[in-house]
Amino acid sequence: MTRQPDIRDVADHAGVSVGTVSNVLNRPDLVAAGTRQRVEDAVNALRYVRNESARQLRRGQSRTIGLIVPDIGNPFFTDVARGIEDVTSAADALLIVCDSDNGADKEERYLTMLAEQQVLGVLHVPVGSPAGAITRLRERGIPLVLLDYKGASRKQCSVSVNDVAGGEMAVRHLLDIGHKRVGFVGAESKPVPQVVDRLAGARKAMADRKRPASALVILPTPSLNIAGGIAAARSLLDIAPLRRPTAVSCVNDLLAIGMMQELLSRGMRIPGDVAVVGYDDIGFAEALAVPLSSVRQPRHQLGRRAAELLIDEATNEDHRHERVVFEPELIVRESSNR
Ligand code: RIB
Repeated sequence: MTRQPDIRDVADHAGVSVGTVSNVLNRPDLVAAGTRQRVEDAVNALRYVRNESARQLRRGQSRTIGLIVPDIGNPFFTDVARGIEDVTSAADALLIVCDSDNGADKEERYLTMLAEQQVLGVLHVPVGSPAGAITRLRERGIPLVLLDYKGASRKQCSVSVNDVAGGEMAVRHLLDIGHKRVGFVGAESKPVPQVVDRLAGARKAMADRKRPASALVILPTPSLNIAGGIAAARSLLDIAPLRRPTAVSCVNDLLAIGMMQELLSRGMRIPGDVAVVGYDDIGFAEALAVPLSSVRQPRHQLGRRAAELLIDEATNEDHRHERVVFEPELIVRESSNR
């Protein structure tokens, strides 16, 4: 296709109406999961971008957009950045990616540098409290969209995923296939909001299935990455076999990869001895030696929607703030198919 794909092309590709595509882009909560996925797949396949973004940037305005993420080494954020870049490149804007390394000090330094650059706007996955950053950027007339973070205020755009539902569906799945004690991997000493919600969902699943709270076993994790998953696996194996959880729910796929790597190296079978579920459904999940079950986040859509909101806020005097919440979806594969 030489021309830019439009919304009709997306509708034809997905086999739905233009109205359904519009709902998926603006009110995803109104659309059934299967239809939503078909439309998202079509949007990604065609690299569709709403063309009003390209028209909106005016002469003299900065064309630079800053993105601050906690860990650029996590493919989740790379995929989100891809969705952002689809929109920023269509708007002839320049995207600067900053890695806060999960640190509030480094995050603060990047926010200051981006403000001093008088960028068009900032897309921000906060590790600290975002309130100060929002105020300081607003004082300079620079919009900020909270990403992967459920904003509390209607005076602020935010794009996130329903992580309570995601945490709940992972543990509910493990309980429904017969597991009685479930390990939870990723509850940090420094509670990341997404992780706090996933843990709340896990606890809800236990309560709904009348399992005691003690049957959800928190496994210590030094970091939300592969090394953290390896450490959590060692903690799991330190538990006496009769008390050891036979399934684990990890708050992201990197933890699940480390968990599976360590368990397999110690002669454990997956899912025979331990069933494993991750979160994000990054590209590697289905390609692993034991394909990983995971709670899928619509990563490209998250990024695309956040970038569209930011450009609209920076260029449209009639901009209306939105708090967009996408729904996750459980993808069951071999790592927890029994
Ligand atoms: O940053 C840790 C996790 O939070 C990521 O893997 C992704 O799930 C995000 O929501």
